[in-house]
Amino acid sequence: MVTSALLPRTDGFPPVREDLFAKVRHAIPAPEWPVYAADIDAILKLKAERNAVILAHNYQTPEIYYCVADLVGDSLALAREAMKIEADVIVLAGVHFMAETAKLLNPDKKVLMPDLAAGCSLAESITPEDVRTLRQRHPGVPIVTYVNTSAAVKAESDICCTSGNARKVVESLGVPKVIMIPDEYLARNIAAETGVEIITWAGHCEVHERFEPSDIAELREAHPGITVLAHPECPPDVVAASDFSGSTAAIADYVGKNRPQSVALLTECSMSDNIAIQYPELEFVRPCNLCPHMKRITLKNIRHSLETLQHEVTIDPATAARARLSVERMLAV
Ligand code: 13P
Ligand code: SF4
Repeated sequence: MVTSALLPRTDGFPPVREDLFAKVRHAIPAPEWPVYAADIDAILKLKAERNAVILAHNYQTPEIYYCVADLVGDSLALAREAMKIEADVIVLAGVHFMAETAKLLNPDKKVLMPDLAAGCSLAESITPEDVRTLRQRHPGVPIVTYVNTSAAVKAESDICCTSGNARKVVESLGVPKVIMIPDEYLARNIAAETGVEIITWAGHCEVHERFEPSDIAELREAHPGITVLAHPECPPDVVAASDFSGSTAAIADYVGKNRPQSVALLTECSMSDNIAIQYPELEFVRPCNLCPHMKRITLKNIRHSLETLQHEVTIDPATAARARLSVERMLAV
């Protein structure tokens, strides 16, 4: 839970929340801070008035991640935390499928997205009809669906997974063959780890598909001894050339436990910003890519969302009931 003392000013300007600036001063230039502080101050007050919590994904910018979020994490952690929420309103600082997952697990709460256009190239890559066709083509083969999908696609699936539990979910099924959709690279990375035959789909993350093995070769040449950590949405040859691959939370844990002197995170740019704040003594080399969807969320639209209680995420009840089963099966593994 974010707590902050409000430091009163006597010069007529809005409060500057210097306690919060201390957390992000390595990421935000001091002259810009008063602009952020005004929105942060308003958001913290609105959260209390609305009995709201803000769930923020690890790809959110530091002023959201460190200054207004109540809970932060990877997709799996956000889903797990969503189950325990007692507030009336949940604001999802992340992308649409994450808000839908929070809504599936909290059907009676108001779940808000600051910008409904914050989507995901993976979620866009597959429709419920595609899933039904796959099931017809491969009768009896279980369908494991990455959470980066719409509720309607989850509703056609047997079980969900995230990058944090994909291996465990596939192994829990105890079968030699599964369908894993829609991320081709995640599926191929999990097939290599588990030995399970995986039928996949040609969906890709527009952020992670851009990394190439040559990026890693160049990093190692320019920074001898560097540790390279890759998200499993990266192509398999990139994952194979890295030192470790895992979900955004697993990457953060790896840095915390191993404290590599020099490290590159092959994932979204805000990951490095957020982790570097915790470990200023480590060198973060940043060949990162921005996720345009995650970057649609700003302090301004979070504030607007809390002021107006927009934009509410709704899911057709019949679809939600089936999609919830897939998510709950995953959380039970
Ligand atoms: P994580 O579940 O690892 O946080 O990943 C979510 C995501 O969208 C990665 O691109
Ligand atoms: Fe989707 Fe990739 Fe953005 Fe994650 S980083 S939300 S997978 S487009």
